[in-house]
This record gives sequence, C-alpha cells and structure tokens, in this order.
Amino acid sequence: MNIVILAAGQGKRMHSALPKVLQPLAGKPLLAHVIDSARSLQPQRLCIVYGHGGDTVRSALAAPDLAWALQEPQLGTGHAVQQALPHLAEAGLTLVLYGDVPLIRQATLRGLLHAARDGMALLTAEVSDPTGYGRIVRDADGRVLRIVEQKDASSEERAIREINTGIMVLPTARLGDWLARLSNDNAQGEYYLTDLVALAVADGLAVHTASVADAWETAGVNSKLQLAELERVAQGRIAQGLLEQGVRLADPARIDVRGELQCGRDVFIDVNCVFEGRVSIAEAAEIGPNCVIRNARIGAGTRIAAFSHIEDAVVGPDAVVGPYARLRPGTELGAGVHVGNFVEVKNSKIAADSKANHLAYIGDAVVGSRVNIGAGTITCNYDGANKHLTTIEDDVFIGSDTQLVAPVTVGRGATLGAGTTLTRDAPPESLTVSRAKQTSIGGWKRPQKVAKK
Ligand code: UD1
Ligand code: CA
Repeated sequence: MNIVILAAGQGKRMHSALPKVLQPLAGKPLLAHVIDSARSLQPQRLCIVYGHGGDTVRSALAAPDLAWALQEPQLGTGHAVQQALPHLAEAGLTLVLYGDVPLIRQATLRGLLHAARDGMALLTAEVSDPTGYGRIVRDADGRVLRIVEQKDASSEERAIREINTGIMVLPTARLGDWLARLSNDNAQGEYYLTDLVALAVADGLAVHTASVADAWETAGVNSKLQLAELERVAQGRIAQGLLEQGVRLADPARIDVRGELQCGRDVFIDVNCVFEGRVSIAEAAEIGPNCVIRNARIGAGTRIAAFSHIEDAVVGPDAVVGPYARLRPGTELGAGVHVGNFVEVKNSKIAADSKANHLAYIGDAVVGSRVNIGAGTITCNYDGANKHLTTIEDDVFIGSDTQLVAPVTVGRGATLGAGTTLTRDAPPESLTVSRAKQTSIGGWKRPQKVAKK
C-alpha cells in the first residue's frame, strides 16, 4: 500500500509566516500528525506532495521513510497526486490523505482500506451544511457515480448532503492512466482528483464508501479559528485518554498537553497546567494548578505546588516543589527534596532530603543529602565570563542570605552563619561566618530636616 499526503496548498487564510502544515496542534505540526497516522498503517511508500512553504516544510519533517514530491505550480488535487506517482509502488492501493486534516484516526483509515479491497473507496460524511465540499452523486440504486465540486454543481446536486471528505483509496495501477485523462475544464480550472470517480465507474470499477463517525476526524484547518477549534478537540481527546488510564484531572477542559504526557496511577493534575515535550509523572504524584512542565520526570508521590515552572529537569519521589518554584534545565532533585517558593535551581543536583524552602538561587551546584539552605542564599556561579561549580556536602546548614562565590566547597556537616559571603572553602564540621562586626552607638541622633528660608 502507498500513502500520499497532499500538502502543497497555500493556506493564505492562516495569515502566518509559518507554512500552514507546520502550524502546531497539540505541540506538533499539523503535517506531523498526518505522517504519524500514515506510519501507523505501515505503508510500503509514504509520499508527501509539497509546494507552498517548500523547503521549510521538507526540512522541518525530513525522515528516511518519507518521499517528497514537489508540486509547483499547484494545479489541483489530481495534479498533486500525479506528482507523487513516480514515488509509488505500482501494485496495490494508494491512500490519499490531506496534510491539513490532522485528527483522522487509524481505525477509520483501516475501515476505508477494507472497503476498497476490490477497487476504490471514498471516505464520506453526511453533514447538515455541505457548503464548499464536493458532493457524492449516486444512482437510484445508491451506487456512487461521481463527485461534483460545489462550484460545478447544479442546484439539485448542491442539495446532496453526503460530502467528500477528500480522503480516498485508489487502485495504484490505474492512476497513471486516469490522471493523464483529467481535464481542467471546470469552474476552478483545476485538475480534480475527484474526477477519478467517474473515470473508475466508466471503467466498470465499483466505488465504495466508508463513513466517518466524528466530524472532527476529517475537519481541515484553513484558518486560525479552525486551528483553535481542533486544538480543543485534540486536548479533549488527550484528557479523555488520561482519565481512562486512571489519572485524576480537576477539569478535563483545563489541561494542555503539547507533546507526550505519561502518567502513573492516581496522579492528580489540577487546573490550567501545560505540559510540553516529553513529561512523565509517576504514581500518586500531584501537580498543583497553573504549572508549566516541559521535558521532565516527576517521581512518585511528589507534590508540585501551584505556579511552578519546570524544564528539562528530574524530580525524585516524595519531593515537594513550589509554589512558585522554577527548575531550569539540568536540575536533578533527589527523593524527599523540598524546593519552596521563589527558589530557582539550574544545572544542579540536590540529593535526598535537602531543603531550600525560600528565595534562593542554586546554579551549577552539587548539593548533598540533608542540607538546609536558608532563605536568600545564592550561588554566585558566574564571574561575567565563566560559570563555576559550588559543592555543598552532606548535612551542611547554610544560614540565610549567604553568597557562595564559586568555585567553592562547603565541607560535610559545616555551618555557614547568616550573611556570609563565602569566597574560600568552608571546612567540614565547623562554623564559618564572614560578617562585619556589629557595633552600637548610644544616644544616636537622627538627622533633622533643615527649615527652608
Ligand atoms: C477538496 C475536494 C472536495 C472535498 C474537499 C474536502 C477536490 C477537487 N476537491 O476540495 O471534493 O470535499 O477537498 O476538504 O479534490 N492540494 C495540493 N495541491 C493542489 C491543491 C490542493 O496539494 O494543487 C492539497 C491542499 O494542500 C489540501 C488538499 O489538497 O491539503 C485539499 O485542497 P483544497 O484546496 O482544500 O481542496 P478543496 O477545494 O477544498
Ligand atoms: Ca479544503
């Protein structure tokens, strides 16, 4: 079996510098959704007809299993399939998909391929408003005769409510002959793929149909409005999938997954969370409201509190993060670690049961176990030219408002007094403090305002 994806159309109504088929839906280009559905059917050849957006589209989605056929200029859907012909295996069936119809389900396509097993099949739908679509014209016995495009249809034909979704299966061996016989003598001056139906019927071939259960499956994207509508459909399906796996969602209408989210049992996700890239959340972890989590692993039983932002990070089990925490790329938190409000961690490992509960910056650091990092502590990891490492060994206690001027090491069990600016290593099991001596001046008079003359 061959699959041809038509993706040469322009998409003017998107009003965008990005080619239409690269517009993201659930974090993935429209065309990538179609390619993934196509791949799931394991075709012998998979060919994409591209034109508008040209090399941008091709380079964005290049993969060894994809053949690319340039269609320039774009003279219609029939002309588009003709450009793909040289890339197709000659025997068997050819399935035609649209690059801007992203949510077609594998089961629907399997049904269509099954219907086409002795020739040709069209995926059709009964709609209440068929405006704009090609209509399926049948004879008195219900046999398909042809497809007539809206602009070429008589008023009786326009009354037909069975429409062509555009997705069809064709016998590959006949394509060359049929496509060569197409004419563009029609209202749009295009070579219509849909005219192959009448040619097949004339050749005595049976043209079957399969119908689509949900309209969103064959909904195309021509505008930002349609893109936004399909985004809601895609998100609704993802939320449903999560619920079916045993995830608890505070509101299935208020979660956005722009990539792949894997969850263990009894995970709870509160409202307005955004997941991007690859995220995994282990059993019984809880994600508070308004979190943004991108390319991260969250351990079992961990609680991520409201408004936390996590990117390229690993959080161990039974940890507590946030509210208002920021874990930047390269963060690895061990089991039972607490990272509290307004704490930023970057490229740092923090081992089990350590705590940084308030207002801290930990960058380029290796922190041991059971360390307590006081409020206002920062690693001065950057000297304006290079980044340096801070090492904090197990069981260290760091007093509030401490600056650790890297590279620097705080030895095991050390205590740093509040306000210390640490510029040399702190020895283990000792108190290190750097602070101006406190003095008091008795009877100190505050300055008085000078009276104006
Ligand atoms: C097409 C069908 C119509 C069907 C409708 C469903 C034809 C003649 N008509 O109409 O029966 O009801 O889709 O949406 O096929 N494309 C190319 N090259 C071209 C023209 C189009 O690659 O030269 C691609 C587009 O990028 C798009 C798809 O083919 O992905 C359909 O093109 P579009 O212009 O939307 O077709 P319609 O006129 O809407
Ligand atoms: Ca269309």
